[in-house]
Amino acid sequence: MNENEGNSNGGHRIGIIVYSQTGNTRLVGQKLRDRLQEDGHRAEMVLLNNPSDEETEEEESCPPDPPVPRHYDAVVFGAPVHAFSLAPPMVQYLEDLSSLRNMGLVCFVTKQLPFVWTGGTRALATMQDICESKGGRVLGTQTVVWAGTGRDERIDRCVQNMCRLLSRAHRT
Ligand SMILES: Cc1cc2nc3c(=O)[nH]c(=O)nc-3n(C[C@H](O)[C@H](O)[C@H](O)COP(=O)(O)O)c2cc1C
Repeated sequence: MNENEGNSNGGHRIGIIVYSQTGNTRLVGQKLRDRLQEDGHRAEMVLLNNPSDEETEEEESCPPDPPVPRHYDAVVFGAPVHAFSLAPPMVQYLEDLSSLRNMGLVCFVTKQLPFVWTGGTRALATMQDICESKGGRVLGTQTVVWAGTGRDERIDRCVQNMCRLLSRAHRT
């Protein structure tokens, strides 16, 4: 992205494309969107969930057609870990995308368990591999573990790290 892109206030269009079955990943996406908006960006969250099974708020959408990353200056993909792997709807969505050439991307997952062998690394590797196979520039990845105390702090840290990673998308 170059400095001439984005809106007249210097903010950028950032898409947060999320699959969330029980709301955890969605919550992280909402917090990221709010933080980015506070920082002056035009951030929006789009859910990949089937519109019929998802109540959406005013500020997020759940369109019948899959979201198009090219509509944004940078994109964040978020999904849960399911059965030690990336949740299948996100795998399908990413595999169906045509090109992410030169796009600045950030990937995150949420998961229940803190142990390293419970799928987070594998899920993020899948996300990163698919994104890079389509020419995307993955600026970094993040994980939020849901179980245990200190979750709010972990979410805040994740949001902060993602904002920092996204700022790199705007420098090239
Ligand atoms: C079918 C299913 C499989 C899951 N498998 C794992 C797993 O392998 N490892 C893990 O840490 N959490 C696992 N979880 C927990 C979810 O990853 C975790 O609760 C996540 O934050 C849910 O995100 P969501 O609310 O956005 O759907 C699983 C949850 C479901 C429903």
